[in-house]
Amino acid sequence: MKPYSMISITLFSLLLLTLPLHLAGALVSVRETCKAAKKVVSNINYKFCVSTLCENSTLAFLVANDTRVFANISATAATTHAHNVIISIQDLLRTSPDPVTKSVLMHCNGSYNYVASSWDKAVIAINKKNDDVAKISLSEGMTSVISCETQCGNAGKLSPLIEMNIVSAKLVTLTYAILEVAEKNKY
Ligand SMILES: *[C@@H]1O[C@H](CO)[C@@H](O)[C@H](O)[C@H]1NC(C)=O
Ligand SMILES: *[C@@H]1O[C@H](CO)[C@@H](O)[C@H](O)[C@H]1NC(C)=O
Ligand SMILES: *[C@@H]1O[C@H](CO)[C@@H](O)[C@H](O)[C@H]1NC(C)=O
Ligand SMILES: *[C@@H]1O[C@H](CO)[C@@H](O)[C@H](O)[C@H]1NC(C)=O
Repeated sequence: MKPYSMISITLFSLLLLTLPLHLAGALVSVRETCKAAKKVVSNINYKFCVSTLCENSTLAFLVANDTRVFANISATAATTHAHNVIISIQDLLRTSPDPVTKSVLMHCNGSYNYVASSWDKAVIAINKKNDDVAKISLSEGMTSVISCETQCGNAGKLSPLIEMNIVSAKLVTLTYAILEVAEKNKY
């Protein structure tokens, strides 16, 4: 299966998902949040979830009374990643790639500027509890990630950004799942 179709399927299946969740207790830990997120989207990697939340979290947030804190941390990690991809694209463009690769990278530069701004909006929406807006922004950004990856396929090239596009897909899927957990928790 082509990587970009894998990413599309992941996005598609998670958009269709609405599972009821039951989370007991007022305080939630990273581990509980990751277990709950995995119940929402089963292909989430538990270790990836724990390391993303722990590494990007201050110690004070390792246990939170609000799952939304973890949604914010995951969304912030996704946004930071998108900005890093833009920097990597600039670096790759400086190595004077062949014309086809260059045009793919230029396309992806445009895509990722949109990804970064969409996910910046998602972080703000998550913190304001505008979950519908947040989900739309997450999915709009993901559509641009897919557009970047598809462009490589169209050019008949191995994507120079494939690893980074996969991390984007993993982070947005994780954010989406944690947001579902936060929403269903109804604090
Ligand atoms: C945050 O999470 C991302 C994704 O797992 C990871 O690559 C990064 O190293 C983490 N830490 C920081 C400080 O951003
Ligand atoms: C969660 O904790 C913060 C500060 O730690 C507090 O301001 C807030 O009221 C708490 N929320 C709930 C729902 O207990
Ligand atoms: C969201 O997370 C960022 C860091 O990832 C933090 O600086 C900010 O205070 C958080 N906002 C809320 C409302 O938790
Ligand atoms: C990448 O996109 C940004 C924003 O659209 C633009 O300012 C920048 O010049 C682009 N970089 C290249 C190398 O085209």
